[in-house]
Formats: sequence, C-alpha cells, structure tokens
Amino acid sequence: MDATSMKRAAAARAVAEVQDGAVLGLGTGTTAELAVEALSKRVAQGLRIVGVPTSERTRALAERLGVPLAPAGDWPRLDLVIDGADQVERDSLDLIKGLGGALLREKIVASAARRMMVVVDGSKLVDRLGGRTPLPVEIVAFGWQGTMERLDALGLQPRLRLVAGQPFLSDGGNHIVDCHLGEIADARALEAKLSGIVGVVETGLFLGLASTVVVGNSSGIEVMQR
Ligand code: A5P
Repeated sequence: MDATSMKRAAAARAVAEVQDGAVLGLGTGTTAELAVEALSKRVAQGLRIVGVPTSERTRALAERLGVPLAPAGDWPRLDLVIDGADQVERDSLDLIKGLGGALLREKIVASAARRMMVVVDGSKLVDRLGGRTPLPVEIVAFGWQGTMERLDALGLQPRLRLVAGQPFLSDGGNHIVDCHLGEIADARALEAKLSGIVGVVETGLFLGLASTVVVGNSSGIEVMQR
C-alpha cells in the first residue's frame, strides 16, 4: 500500500465517526484534504454538518466539493476537528504541525474543538518530537529579521521559509520560520520559551490537543487514544 492509500484509509476511518449535526473543523494538508473528500461523499448521501476550514486552501476545496461551511467566526464551539500532522509522539500524542503553513488557524480551531482526531500514515509516528522534522514557528512579518535573531540567540537554528525566493505568507499574512532543533527533550518548556519571544505568533507544537490519532499502515488502521 502506498502512502496516499494509507492516508486515505486513515481519513475514511476518521470521517466514519462524524455524527449528524456536527460542527466540524476541517484540517489542512494532503491527509486532511482526503478527509474532506470522504466527508463530501457522506454529505452527498445526506449527512448534515457545518465545516470550519483551517485554511483558505481547505475552504476552496470544501466549497468545490459541496461541503457546507460556517460563516467566518460563527462557531463558538466545535464538536470535532479532523486534521493531519507532521509528527505524532507515540506515548503522549503530542504533535508537530505547520509544514503546510496553516498552524495558526489549525491551533485556534483545535483549541475550540471538544475532540481532535489526527489522521496520518505510519511514517509520522516518532518516539520523540523533533529530529528530522523542523518545528514551524509563525512570526509577524513586521520586523521578522529581529525575531529571527532572537530565535537564533536561543540556539533554535531558525530558517525563514521561502517560496520562489520570497518569504512564505500564511493566510494571516505572517511569515514562518522552520527551527531545526533535533530531538525536543521538553516540548512544554520549549513552547513556553517560544511564546515569550516578541514577534512570535504561534508555534507548531500541539501539546495535549489530540484526543485520537488514526494511523494508516500497510497492515491496516491503528487507532490511538489519549
Ligand atoms: C498544515 O499546516 C500542517 O499542519 C499539516 O497538517 C501537516 O503538514 C500534515 O500534512 P500532510 O497530511 O500533507 O502530511
């Protein structure tokens, strides 16, 4: 089974849990998009849900596939969010997210949801966050050089994310810095440290947010609960 088939199987398993009437966060990235596709099929069969997209890219996909969306900002409480991840720590189900550039809206939506269901293929599981995957950190565009210097001074090895030679712009108009940290010994301490840096908007550490992780493997689906 290839990676896309494993992601599709995980996405389908998560979408099967969506209940009629749900207010549902729609994640960003290739796996979350497969979930939106699976959801659109259930909607076509009569499932009533209201979606809250975590990016303009996902909004466009949901609109194209006929998934009903909530008006912007009109979703005080979500029942569930289904989203992908760049890394999942096996024991804690803590995550790194943001390689797709949508971490701020993803974190706002996940924090507003009663449950977060993460859909990944088995390659995303790690014993310890960090390592080969950098930690994305969203920073304000204004004065980004100074914010980079502050991150660098803390030994976080920041690299400004570029697209076609220009700084990447998130849906919120911010830049993203990818921090090459190696394995993260204490994610909570790092989150606290990063949150205190002037110019940092949000980090890609999603700690204590995932309630369920659905993993697509070549041998089948594994469901991990926190
Ligand atoms: C988007 O900002 C990210 O957090 C994605 O959820 C993450 O990059 C996973 O994407 P894939 O499913 O494409 O690997």
